[in-house]
Amino acid sequence: MQIAVIAGDGIGKDVTVEAVKVLQQVSSVFDAPIVLEHLPWGADHFLRTGETLPAGGYDLLRSFDAVFVGALGDPRVPDNRHARDILLGTRFELDLYVNYRPVRLLADRLCPLKHRGRADVNFVVFRENTEGVYVGIGGRFKAGTPDEVAIQEEINTYKGVHRIIRYAFAYAATHNLTKVCMADKSNAMQQGHALWQRVFHEVAAEFPGIAATHQYIDALAMFLVRDPGQYEVIVTNNLFGDIVTDIGGALQGGLGMAASGNLHPGRTSLFEPVHGSAPPLAGRNVANPMGAILSVALMLETLGRTAEAKAIEAAVEATVRAGETTADIGGSLGTREVGDRIAAALM
Ligand SMILES: NC(=O)c1ccc[n+]([C@@H]2O[C@H](COP(=O)([O-])OP(=O)(O)OC[C@H]3O[C@@H](n4cnc5c(N)ncnc54)[C@H](O)[C@@H]3O)[C@@H](O)[C@H]2O)c1
Repeated sequence: MQIAVIAGDGIGKDVTVEAVKVLQQVSSVFDAPIVLEHLPWGADHFLRTGETLPAGGYDLLRSFDAVFVGALGDPRVPDNRHARDILLGTRFELDLYVNYRPVRLLADRLCPLKHRGRADVNFVVFRENTEGVYVGIGGRFKAGTPDEVAIQEEINTYKGVHRIIRYAFAYAATHNLTKVCMADKSNAMQQGHALWQRVFHEVAAEFPGIAATHQYIDALAMFLVRDPGQYEVIVTNNLFGDIVTDIGGALQGGLGMAASGNLHPGRTSLFEPVHGSAPPLAGRNVANPMGAILSVALMLETLGRTAEAKAIEAAVEATVRAGETTADIGGSLGTREVGDRIAAALM
């Protein structure tokens, strides 16, 4: 198995060291070799060479079984051009249309909600990952003047909406789940989100055993805080998914705990923690590496190496239970020490 590793910027570098440590440990415990290739792409590389990723970069990524990314974003590159090319570019070029974000609370004490615990926070969000407002279509007229007009288009295609909604239902069906909730803003966005409504009903009809419900995105954001236990699978568009999965991260104890996969089933997919590069924390041995390590588990699960994935999840859970964590979730250990404990728990 060959994995490309892009540590990226800021705390992306810190957490990637730990994710790789755990990956190498699990590979040795299970005696299942994993070959890693570190790609230096990120802000430093861009500032040194002027190159975001090299010619043929996306084809290079396609030649791996999977790609792991730490995080991208650096204040020295104000428009974050490198992050756009490396991360958004890969999502588009490799057509990674499923953004898969499990939201699972590992210990009751991490839940920020009163009287809620593990039984209430255990669902999966599928965010459409190749369309919506992230395609960058639009423009500015009279930029920089008081008359400036800015237009940013939202793209919704039948193909794009259908494949993400169908993936969400198929996931529910194969994981013995019985509820899929679709969130849109079809009351206000009467063109694009009417398409979401139509496709949702069409796909739901194929899965009569699954309760298909709909909530407007503003209501869903409220219910995620008031009553997250009602959800099993949520499916939504690119922008809304981006926002609600940060709420999901908070429900898990913080952004440092949240993992994600950017998938195209059957093809090279990309795995990354949900958090960004958090520049103020970079290089200080304080970033929580668990989201990155759980992203490695998602990667192994997606590649069919379920036993290794489960072993990593169990090791993270045991480490959280033992209180051996970074300060963001109440512990007193550093990034490296948490990585060491999780790797040790795999033995
Ligand atoms: N996928 C990505 O690579 C990605 C995602 C989001 C933001 N970004 C980029 O990251 C940069 C910073 O963005 P931001 O500050 O809005 O978001 P961020 O996720 O980097 O940080 C937000 C907050 O969460 C905390 N946090 C995040 N990860 C943590 C961790 N592992 N451990 C402990 N605390 C953690 C930070 O202290 C900060 O207060 C920007 O350049 C942004 O564009 C990249």
